[in-house]
Amino acid sequence: MNLSLLQQDDDKIIDGKATAQQVLDEVKYEVTEMKQRGIAPCLAVVLVGEDPASQVYVRNKVEKTEFVGMRSLEFRFETDLSQEQLLAKIDELNADASVHGILVQLPLPKHIDETDVLQRIDPKKDVDGFHSENVGGLSQGRDVLTPCTPTGCIRLLKDTLGNDLAGLHAVVVGRSNIVGKPMVALLLKENCTVTVVHSKTKNIQQVCQQADIIVAAVGRPKMITASYVKADAVVIDVGINRILENGKNRLVGDVDFDDVLPKVRAITPVPGGVGPMTIAYLMKNTLHAAKLQYAEL
Ligand code: GUN
Repeated sequence: MNLSLLQQDDDKIIDGKATAQQVLDEVKYEVTEMKQRGIAPCLAVVLVGEDPASQVYVRNKVEKTEFVGMRSLEFRFETDLSQEQLLAKIDELNADASVHGILVQLPLPKHIDETDVLQRIDPKKDVDGFHSENVGGLSQGRDVLTPCTPTGCIRLLKDTLGNDLAGLHAVVVGRSNIVGKPMVALLLKENCTVTVVHSKTKNIQQVCQQADIIVAAVGRPKMITASYVKADAVVIDVGINRILENGKNRLVGDVDFDDVLPKVRAITPVPGGVGPMTIAYLMKNTLHAAKLQYAEL
């Protein structure tokens, strides 16, 4: 292939790392201003158990909280922590006026009911946007705390396509509570025409071929190949899958990146696409939560 075509393909790669850094710098600037007015935004992260991936995520969250100048609290518990003990910790953090954001890292050990725990977090401190009050508020189009990963995807889409996404056909692949469902609500809020496909959908490929925007969040490595994609579509890949390829461990998305790249207008890579945006929007949500709580005083 000639060099200029390869160069053009490079220009299509959405740099999530750079955009995330921009978001972090925006947050840092606002945090500095708030601190000058005597307000120190604070995020509390709760981790139960020894899941290695969760430990890495939590370490990253603490690091970024400190980078933007916010106070960071971290609570680690053994796997055998009871649900009552966890709920008591959440009650304590809810009651603490110096804590503005609470994040309970998922997944939780099997003996703990995730929904009960997420529902216990004060909706104004719910920086994950998982409480039913925030889920409902989002579906009504209200200005509530919204889940970090899909909110980060909207930012990447606007940076790529401009602020007006109205009338574009977006196909969301996957219907999880963390990504797929809130993604649908956020795209609707932007006046997109939205279709959601999932494991029981009969003609996923044909539906995807209609899309101006594809958001892939199914957890199936390289499922979306070039034959799913309309020419000049924008593809956002939320998948993070560890696979063994040629004897080596590799991190790949739900999209077959190399296959799809020549055909698309723009695409997020894995890693370095959506991933860094999730933490950046957690910081933005914590700032938003601090503002919500001070507006009340
Ligand atoms: N585990 C994987 N993704 C997430 C997330 O977005 N929030 C929380 N709390 N836990 C997670």
